[in-house]
Amino acid sequence: MIEQIKSLRPKTAETASEETRIVAREETEKDEWQQSLRPKALSDYIGQPDMRRNLSVYIQAALSRGEALDHVLLYGPPGLGKTTMANIIANELGVNFRITSGPAIERPADLAAILSNLEEHDVLFIDEIHRLNRSVEEILYPAMEDFSLDIIMGKGPGARSYRINLPPFTLIGATTRAGALAAPLRDRFGIIFRMQFYGAEELEQIITRAARILEIPVEADGASEIARRARGTPRIANRLLKRVRDFAQVMGSGVITRDLAANALNALHVDSLGLDATDREVLRTIIDKFNGGPVGIDTIAAAVCEERTTIEDVCEPYLMQIGFLSRTPRGRVVTKAAYRHLGLEMEETGG
Ligand SMILES: Nc1ncnc2c1ncn2[C@@H]1O[C@H](COP(=O)(O)OP(=O)(O)O)[C@@H](O)[C@H]1O
Ligand SMILES: [Mg+2]
Repeated sequence: MIEQIKSLRPKTAETASEETRIVAREETEKDEWQQSLRPKALSDYIGQPDMRRNLSVYIQAALSRGEALDHVLLYGPPGLGKTTMANIIANELGVNFRITSGPAIERPADLAAILSNLEEHDVLFIDEIHRLNRSVEEILYPAMEDFSLDIIMGKGPGARSYRINLPPFTLIGATTRAGALAAPLRDRFGIIFRMQFYGAEELEQIITRAARILEIPVEADGASEIARRARGTPRIANRLLKRVRDFAQVMGSGVITRDLAANALNALHVDSLGLDATDREVLRTIIDKFNGGPVGIDTIAAAVCEERTTIEDVCEPYLMQIGFLSRTPRGRVVTKAAYRHLGLEMEETGG
Protein backbone atom coordinates (compact mmCIF):
# COMPACT_ATOMS: atom_id res chain seq x y z
CA MET A 1 0.00 0.00 0.00
CA ILE A 2 2.79 2.38 0.98
CA GLU A 3 4.51 1.61 -2.31
CA GLN A 4 1.33 2.38 -4.14
CA ILE A 5 0.94 5.69 -2.37
CA LYS A 6 4.54 6.58 -3.05
CA SER A 7 4.09 5.87 -6.71
CA LEU A 8 1.20 8.32 -6.74
CA ARG A 9 3.24 11.11 -5.27
CA PRO A 10 4.56 13.71 -7.67
CA LYS A 11 7.71 12.36 -9.26
CA THR A 12 11.16 13.83 -9.43
CA ALA A 13 11.34 16.93 -11.57
CA GLU A 14 12.30 14.85 -14.59
CA THR A 15 9.48 12.34 -14.55
CA ALA A 16 6.98 14.96 -13.49
CA SER A 17 7.76 17.08 -16.51
CA GLU A 18 7.57 14.01 -18.74
CA GLU A 19 4.11 13.33 -17.37
CA THR A 20 3.03 16.93 -17.61
CA ARG A 21 4.09 16.98 -21.21
CA ILE A 22 2.14 13.95 -22.30
CA VAL A 23 -1.12 14.99 -20.72
CA ALA A 24 -0.56 18.74 -21.03
CA ARG A 25 -3.86 20.00 -22.22
CA GLU A 26 -2.55 23.08 -23.94
CA GLU A 27 -1.60 22.88 -27.54
CA THR A 28 2.16 23.00 -28.07
CA GLU A 29 4.26 23.21 -31.26
CA LYS A 30 4.66 19.47 -30.82
CA ASP A 31 0.96 19.08 -31.57
CA GLU A 32 1.19 20.43 -35.09
CA TRP A 33 0.91 16.91 -36.50
CA GLN A 34 -2.60 16.83 -35.03
CA GLN A 35 -3.69 19.34 -37.68
CA SER A 36 -3.98 16.48 -40.16
CA LEU A 37 -6.42 14.78 -37.80
CA ARG A 38 -8.84 17.68 -37.66
CA PRO A 39 -12.19 16.73 -39.16
CA LYS A 40 -13.14 19.16 -41.95
CA ALA A 41 -16.90 18.63 -42.13
CA LEU A 42 -19.61 18.75 -39.51
CA SER A 43 -20.51 15.15 -40.29
CA ASP A 44 -16.95 14.00 -39.43
CA TYR A 45 -16.97 15.76 -36.06
CA ILE A 46 -17.40 13.16 -33.34
CA GLY A 47 -19.33 13.91 -30.15
CA GLN A 48 -20.90 17.18 -28.91
CA PRO A 49 -24.24 16.05 -30.42
CA ASP A 50 -26.30 19.06 -29.29
CA MET A 51 -23.82 21.54 -30.64
CA ARG A 52 -23.56 19.68 -33.93
CA ARG A 53 -27.29 19.45 -34.47
CA ASN A 54 -28.02 23.07 -33.59
CA LEU A 55 -25.11 24.45 -35.57
CA SER A 56 -26.18 22.52 -38.62
CA VAL A 57 -29.60 24.22 -38.40
CA TYR A 58 -28.10 27.69 -37.93
CA ILE A 59 -25.65 27.20 -40.80
CA GLN A 60 -28.33 25.99 -43.20
CA ALA A 61 -30.62 28.85 -42.20
CA ALA A 62 -27.90 31.47 -42.73
CA LEU A 63 -27.01 29.95 -46.10
CA SER A 64 -30.60 29.86 -47.31
CA ARG A 65 -31.14 33.49 -46.29
CA GLY A 66 -27.84 34.49 -47.87
CA GLU A 67 -26.72 36.10 -44.61
CA ALA A 68 -23.66 35.86 -42.41
CA LEU A 69 -24.01 33.38 -39.56
CA ASP A 70 -24.60 34.99 -36.16
CA HIS A 71 -21.50 35.43 -33.96
CA VAL A 72 -20.55 32.23 -32.13
CA LEU A 73 -18.86 31.80 -28.75
CA LEU A 74 -17.29 28.41 -27.95
CA TYR A 75 -16.12 27.81 -24.43
CA GLY A 76 -14.60 24.94 -22.51
CA PRO A 77 -11.27 23.44 -21.39
CA PRO A 78 -8.34 23.20 -23.84
CA GLY A 79 -8.21 20.34 -26.36
CA LEU A 80 -11.95 19.70 -26.68
CA GLY A 81 -12.22 20.83 -30.29
CA LYS A 82 -13.00 24.56 -30.31
CA THR A 83 -10.53 25.50 -33.05
CA THR A 84 -11.56 22.42 -35.01
CA MET A 85 -15.21 23.41 -34.82
CA ALA A 86 -14.52 27.03 -35.83
CA ASN A 87 -12.72 25.71 -38.90
CA ILE A 88 -15.61 23.42 -39.76
CA ILE A 89 -18.12 26.26 -39.51
CA ALA A 90 -16.16 28.27 -42.08
CA ASN A 91 -15.91 25.20 -44.34
CA GLU A 92 -19.62 24.50 -44.12
CA LEU A 93 -20.41 28.14 -44.88
CA GLY A 94 -17.96 28.07 -47.79
CA VAL A 95 -16.16 31.24 -46.66
CA ASN A 96 -12.64 32.29 -45.70
CA PHE A 97 -11.36 31.38 -42.26
CA ARG A 98 -9.24 34.10 -40.64
CA ILE A 99 -7.55 33.22 -37.42
CA THR A 100 -6.04 35.33 -34.66
CA SER A 101 -5.97 35.38 -30.87
CA GLY A 102 -6.63 37.72 -27.98
CA PRO A 103 -3.00 38.13 -26.90
CA ALA A 104 -1.84 38.57 -30.54
CA ILE A 105 -3.92 41.73 -31.02
CA GLU A 106 -2.04 44.38 -29.10
CA ARG A 107 -3.48 47.64 -30.36
CA PRO A 108 -6.89 48.73 -31.66
CA ALA A 109 -5.28 49.46 -35.03
CA ASP A 110 -4.24 45.78 -35.33
CA LEU A 111 -7.83 44.67 -35.01
CA ALA A 112 -9.05 47.46 -37.29
CA ALA A 113 -6.66 46.20 -39.97
CA ILE A 114 -7.90 42.62 -39.63
CA LEU A 115 -11.55 43.69 -39.74
CA SER A 116 -11.18 45.95 -42.74
CA ASN A 117 -9.64 43.10 -44.73
CA LEU A 118 -12.58 40.75 -44.22
CA GLU A 119 -14.73 39.74 -47.16
CA GLU A 120 -18.48 39.29 -47.08
CA HIS A 121 -19.64 36.50 -44.70
CA ASP A 122 -16.06 35.54 -43.73
CA VAL A 123 -15.38 33.84 -40.42
CA LEU A 124 -12.98 35.66 -38.10
CA PHE A 125 -11.79 33.34 -35.35
CA ILE A 126 -10.38 34.94 -32.18
CA ASP A 127 -8.85 32.31 -29.91
CA GLU A 128 -8.46 33.12 -26.20
CA ILE A 129 -10.84 36.00 -26.71
CA HIS A 130 -10.95 36.68 -22.95
CA ARG A 131 -7.40 37.97 -23.25
CA LEU A 132 -8.24 40.88 -25.54
CA ASN A 133 -7.39 44.16 -23.92
CA ARG A 134 -10.06 46.74 -23.19
CA SER A 135 -9.19 49.24 -25.88
CA VAL A 136 -9.24 46.50 -28.52
CA GLU A 137 -12.54 45.18 -27.21
CA GLU A 138 -14.16 48.58 -27.74
CA ILE A 139 -13.41 48.36 -31.47
CA LEU A 140 -15.11 45.00 -31.53
CA TYR A 141 -18.46 46.15 -30.14
CA PRO A 142 -19.66 48.28 -33.10
CA ALA A 143 -18.02 45.81 -35.49
CA MET A 144 -20.06 42.93 -34.10
CA GLU A 145 -23.25 44.91 -33.69
CA ASP A 146 -23.48 47.15 -36.74
CA PHE A 147 -20.60 45.89 -38.89
CA SER A 148 -18.91 49.24 -38.60
CA LEU A 149 -15.56 50.54 -37.54
CA ASP A 150 -15.22 53.84 -35.67
CA ILE A 151 -11.89 55.46 -36.28
CA ILE A 152 -10.69 58.59 -34.53
CA MET A 153 -8.14 60.70 -36.38
CA GLY A 154 -6.06 63.33 -34.62
CA LYS A 155 -6.06 64.39 -31.01
CA GLY A 156 -7.70 66.96 -28.74
CA PRO A 157 -10.32 69.42 -30.04
CA GLY A 158 -9.30 68.78 -33.65
CA ALA A 159 -9.95 65.04 -33.42
CA ARG A 160 -12.53 63.70 -35.81
CA SER A 161 -14.31 60.43 -35.88
CA TYR A 162 -14.98 58.45 -39.04
CA ARG A 163 -17.23 55.52 -39.49
CA ILE A 164 -16.31 52.81 -41.97
CA ASN A 165 -18.75 50.11 -43.00
CA LEU A 166 -17.58 46.53 -42.86
CA PRO A 167 -18.99 43.61 -44.81
CA PRO A 168 -21.23 41.38 -42.68
CA PHE A 169 -19.01 38.71 -41.11
CA THR A 170 -19.14 36.05 -38.40
CA LEU A 171 -16.97 36.36 -35.33
CA ILE A 172 -16.18 33.08 -33.61
CA GLY A 173 -14.64 33.49 -30.18
CA ALA A 174 -13.05 30.69 -28.17
CA THR A 175 -12.34 30.83 -24.47
CA THR A 176 -11.62 28.44 -21.64
CA ARG A 177 -14.09 30.23 -19.40
CA ALA A 178 -17.16 32.20 -20.41
CA GLY A 179 -17.02 33.88 -17.00
CA ALA A 180 -13.70 35.51 -17.86
CA LEU A 181 -15.36 37.48 -20.66
CA ALA A 182 -16.62 41.01 -20.14
CA ALA A 183 -20.42 40.95 -20.04
CA PRO A 184 -20.92 43.42 -22.93
CA LEU A 185 -18.73 41.22 -25.13
CA ARG A 186 -20.48 38.01 -24.14
CA ASP A 187 -23.86 39.59 -24.81
CA ARG A 188 -22.93 40.30 -28.41
CA PHE A 189 -22.71 36.62 -29.30
CA GLY A 190 -25.98 35.26 -30.68
CA ILE A 191 -24.87 31.63 -30.39
CA ILE A 192 -23.08 30.29 -27.33
CA PHE A 193 -21.90 26.69 -26.86
CA ARG A 194 -20.27 25.06 -23.91
CA MET A 195 -18.00 22.20 -24.96
CA GLN A 196 -18.43 19.01 -22.94
CA PHE A 197 -15.82 16.42 -22.01
CA TYR A 198 -16.04 13.42 -24.34
CA GLY A 199 -17.34 10.04 -23.26
CA ALA A 200 -15.16 6.94 -23.55
CA GLU A 201 -17.06 5.71 -26.61
CA GLU A 202 -16.64 8.99 -28.45
CA LEU A 203 -12.94 9.06 -27.63
CA GLU A 204 -12.64 5.51 -28.86
CA GLN A 205 -14.11 6.60 -32.19
CA ILE A 206 -11.75 9.56 -32.31
CA ILE A 207 -8.76 7.27 -31.62
CA THR A 208 -9.88 4.72 -34.18
CA ARG A 209 -10.29 7.44 -36.78
CA ALA A 210 -6.88 8.95 -35.98
CA ALA A 211 -5.26 5.50 -36.08
CA ARG A 212 -6.73 4.94 -39.53
CA ILE A 213 -5.41 8.26 -40.82
CA LEU A 214 -1.97 7.71 -39.28
CA GLU A 215 -1.98 4.02 -40.33
CA ILE A 216 -1.46 2.74 -36.80
CA PRO A 217 -2.74 -0.80 -36.22
CA VAL A 218 -4.93 -0.76 -33.13
CA GLU A 219 -7.32 -3.36 -31.74
CA ALA A 220 -10.71 -2.21 -30.46
CA ASP A 221 -9.69 -3.08 -26.88
CA GLY A 222 -6.47 -1.13 -27.28
CA ALA A 223 -8.37 1.93 -28.48
CA SER A 224 -10.77 1.70 -25.57
CA GLU A 225 -7.92 1.45 -23.04
CA ILE A 226 -6.40 4.65 -24.42
CA ALA A 227 -9.84 6.29 -24.52
CA ARG A 228 -10.42 5.55 -20.84
CA ARG A 229 -7.25 7.37 -19.90
CA ALA A 230 -7.57 10.35 -22.23
CA ARG A 231 -9.16 12.61 -19.65
CA GLY A 232 -12.24 13.20 -21.80
CA THR A 233 -10.06 15.21 -24.21
CA PRO A 234 -9.44 14.49 -27.94
CA ARG A 235 -6.08 16.28 -27.99
CA ILE A 236 -4.81 14.04 -25.20
CA ALA A 237 -6.30 10.95 -26.88
CA ASN A 238 -4.33 11.66 -30.06
CA ARG A 239 -1.16 12.30 -28.12
CA LEU A 240 -1.46 9.10 -26.09
CA LEU A 241 -2.15 7.12 -29.27
CA LYS A 242 1.10 8.34 -30.77
CA ARG A 243 3.16 7.51 -27.67
CA VAL A 244 1.57 4.08 -27.29
CA ARG A 245 2.43 3.34 -30.91
CA ASP A 246 6.12 3.75 -30.01
CA PHE A 247 5.76 1.14 -27.29
CA ALA A 248 3.89 -1.17 -29.67
CA GLN A 249 6.69 -0.96 -32.21
CA VAL A 250 9.56 -1.44 -29.80
CA MET A 251 8.12 -3.75 -27.15
CA GLY A 252 5.33 -5.51 -29.02
CA SER A 253 4.31 -6.71 -32.45
CA GLY A 254 3.43 -3.22 -33.66
CA VAL A 255 -0.26 -3.73 -32.97
CA ILE A 256 -1.83 -1.80 -30.08
CA THR A 257 -3.61 -4.32 -27.86
CA ARG A 258 -5.26 -3.65 -24.51
CA ASP A 259 -2.33 -5.01 -22.48
CA LEU A 260 0.19 -3.14 -24.50
CA ALA A 261 -1.76 0.13 -24.15
CA ALA A 262 -2.16 -0.36 -20.40
CA ASN A 263 1.53 -1.11 -19.87
CA ALA A 264 2.64 1.79 -22.03
CA LEU A 265 0.35 4.24 -20.28
CA ASN A 266 1.49 3.02 -16.87
CA ALA A 267 5.06 3.57 -17.97
CA LEU A 268 4.07 7.10 -18.97
CA HIS A 269 2.55 7.64 -15.49
CA VAL A 270 -0.88 8.22 -16.94
CA ASP A 271 -3.08 6.54 -14.36
CA SER A 272 -6.19 4.46 -14.92
CA LEU A 273 -8.36 7.58 -15.03
CA GLY A 274 -5.91 9.62 -17.05
CA LEU A 275 -4.90 11.87 -14.16
CA ASP A 276 -1.52 13.55 -14.57
CA ALA A 277 1.08 14.76 -12.10
CA THR A 278 -0.56 18.14 -11.59
CA ASP A 279 -4.00 16.63 -10.97
CA ARG A 280 -2.59 14.25 -8.40
CA GLU A 281 -0.50 16.94 -6.80
CA VAL A 282 -3.53 19.18 -6.39
CA LEU A 283 -5.46 16.37 -4.72
CA ARG A 284 -2.53 15.32 -2.52
CA THR A 285 -1.87 18.89 -1.44
CA ILE A 286 -5.46 19.46 -0.37
CA ILE A 287 -5.40 16.14 1.49
CA ASP A 288 -1.97 16.43 3.13
CA LYS A 289 -1.79 20.12 3.88
CA PHE A 290 -5.40 21.10 4.29
CA ASN A 291 -6.95 17.93 5.61
CA GLY A 292 -9.04 17.47 2.48
CA GLY A 293 -10.36 21.04 2.38
CA PRO A 294 -12.23 23.28 2.13
CA VAL A 295 -9.40 25.46 0.89
CA GLY A 296 -9.35 28.47 -1.41
CA ILE A 297 -8.12 28.27 -4.97
CA ASP A 298 -5.34 30.83 -4.46
CA THR A 299 -3.98 28.87 -1.52
CA ILE A 300 -3.97 25.67 -3.58
CA ALA A 301 -2.24 27.42 -6.47
CA ALA A 302 0.45 28.79 -4.18
CA ALA A 303 0.97 25.42 -2.48
CA VAL A 304 1.48 23.53 -5.77
CA CYS A 305 3.35 26.41 -7.47
CA GLU A 306 0.96 26.61 -10.39
CA GLU A 307 -0.88 29.52 -11.95
CA ARG A 308 -4.34 29.91 -10.53
CA THR A 309 -5.75 29.90 -14.07
CA THR A 310 -4.10 26.54 -14.86
CA ILE A 311 -5.79 25.01 -11.85
CA GLU A 312 -9.11 26.65 -12.61
CA ASP A 313 -9.23 26.12 -16.37
CA VAL A 314 -7.38 22.86 -16.74
CA CYS A 315 -7.29 20.71 -13.58
CA GLU A 316 -10.48 21.59 -11.85
CA PRO A 317 -13.05 21.04 -14.60
CA TYR A 318 -12.02 17.41 -15.08
CA LEU A 319 -11.59 16.64 -11.38
CA MET A 320 -15.07 18.01 -10.79
CA GLN A 321 -16.46 16.13 -13.78
CA ILE A 322 -15.27 12.79 -12.37
CA GLY A 323 -16.45 13.73 -8.88
CA PHE A 324 -13.03 14.03 -7.21
CA LEU A 325 -13.32 17.65 -6.26
CA SER A 326 -16.27 19.74 -5.24
CA ARG A 327 -16.63 23.46 -4.96
CA THR A 328 -18.20 24.89 -1.84
CA PRO A 329 -18.64 28.51 -0.73
CA ARG A 330 -15.67 27.99 1.63
CA GLY A 331 -13.36 26.49 -0.96
CA ARG A 332 -12.46 23.25 -2.71
CA VAL A 333 -13.04 19.90 -1.07
CA VAL A 334 -11.58 16.51 -2.05
CA THR A 335 -14.21 13.77 -2.17
CA LYS A 336 -14.15 10.25 -0.81
CA ALA A 337 -13.85 8.88 -4.34
CA ALA A 338 -10.58 10.75 -4.80
CA TYR A 339 -9.16 9.34 -1.55
CA ARG A 340 -10.10 5.88 -2.74
CA HIS A 341 -8.47 6.43 -6.13
CA LEU A 342 -5.26 7.56 -4.45
CA GLY A 343 -5.36 4.54 -2.14
CA LEU A 344 -5.84 6.66 0.96
CA GLU A 345 -8.14 6.48 3.95
CA MET A 346 -10.35 9.47 4.59
CA GLU A 347 -9.72 10.71 8.12
CA GLU A 348 -12.77 11.15 10.28
CA THR A 349 -12.74 14.74 11.44
CA GLY A 350 -15.29 14.11 14.13
CA GLY A 351 -17.54 16.99 13.33
N1 LIG B 1 -14.86 16.14 -32.25
C1 LIG B 1 -13.65 15.75 -32.67
N2 LIG B 1 -13.52 14.70 -33.49
C2 LIG B 1 -12.28 14.30 -33.87
N3 LIG B 1 -11.13 14.89 -33.50
C3 LIG B 1 -11.21 15.94 -32.69
C4 LIG B 1 -12.47 16.44 -32.24
N4 LIG B 1 -12.25 17.50 -31.45
C5 LIG B 1 -10.91 17.66 -31.40
N5 LIG B 1 -10.28 16.74 -32.15
C6 LIG B 1 -8.82 16.57 -32.28
O1 LIG B 1 -8.22 17.14 -31.11
C7 LIG B 1 -7.27 18.13 -31.47
C8 LIG B 1 -7.46 19.34 -30.56
O2 LIG B 1 -8.63 20.03 -30.90
P1 LIG B 1 -8.69 21.64 -30.94
O3 LIG B 1 -9.79 22.02 -31.85
O4 LIG B 1 -7.34 22.19 -31.26
O5 LIG B 1 -9.07 21.96 -29.42
P2 LIG B 1 -9.23 23.39 -28.69
O6 LIG B 1 -9.20 24.45 -29.74
O7 LIG B 1 -10.55 23.31 -27.98
O8 LIG B 1 -8.10 23.51 -27.71
C9 LIG B 1 -7.50 18.45 -32.94
O9 LIG B 1 -6.28 18.59 -33.62
C10 LIG B 1 -8.25 17.26 -33.48
O10 LIG B 1 -7.34 16.38 -34.10
MG1 LIG C 1 -7.73 25.90 -29.95
